[in-house]
Amino acid sequence: MQTLISPSLLAADFTNLKADIEMVNNSQADWFHLDIMDGVFVPNISYGLPVVEQINKIAKKPLDVHLMIIDPDRYVEAFKKAGADILTVHYEACTHLHRTIQNIHSHGMKAGVSLNPHTPVSVLEEIITDIDLVLLMSVNPGFGGQSFIENTYAKVEKLAELIKEKNASVVIEIDGGVNLGTGKKLIEAGANALVAGSFVFGANDPDQTISDLKNL
Ligand code: DX5
Ligand code: ZN
Repeated sequence: MQTLISPSLLAADFTNLKADIEMVNNSQADWFHLDIMDGVFVPNISYGLPVVEQINKIAKKPLDVHLMIIDPDRYVEAFKKAGADILTVHYEACTHLHRTIQNIHSHGMKAGVSLNPHTPVSVLEEIITDIDLVLLMSVNPGFGGQSFIENTYAKVEKLAELIKEKNASVVIEIDGGVNLGTGKKLIEAGANALVAGSFVFGANDPDQTISDLKNL
């Protein structure tokens, strides 16, 4: 299977967002990665529901929404209404993770769980067969443009083993510091989907950069 590419709009030009959305629409990218930050779970605030709704009006690919917020259950329905196709919550932000996953599924969305760099893959043992995607953070969430944490490769391998052992069907997506170098090694370790923000939108030719990632 070819790797799924999910450009993160956090690094897009918000004064001309339409142009960047159209670039992604016409590129080899598979999804739009939307980073929602609440200034509590992570030390930064990004954008919220009204912006997601507007993006959804012109985006022609699934919205891969990454919630970096506490108590995400409160917003599951609202993100569905705003256009989310995949809704990913943080393991560290959910007391009743299984209930949250059920809630996401009951609204007809794919459910993802994200792990911070310090959270071991083993915490997913009892839930891996109930989810559609795991988003491994390869930086501490909150900001784009940070450098990649090398321990992520080993986590990808462990997660791939867990998925195999449990006979689960789960996408392994990686977020933070992805470029052609880290991306290649991640795919070799077993990643199926790559998020890339600054590497794509900071490039001279973002469309070509997406295609380079796609064809690693
Ligand atoms: C970080 C976000 C990422 C971010 C990645 O908290 O979850 O999706 O946009 O940015 P880069 O690719 O620049 O590391
Ligand atoms: Zn993200």
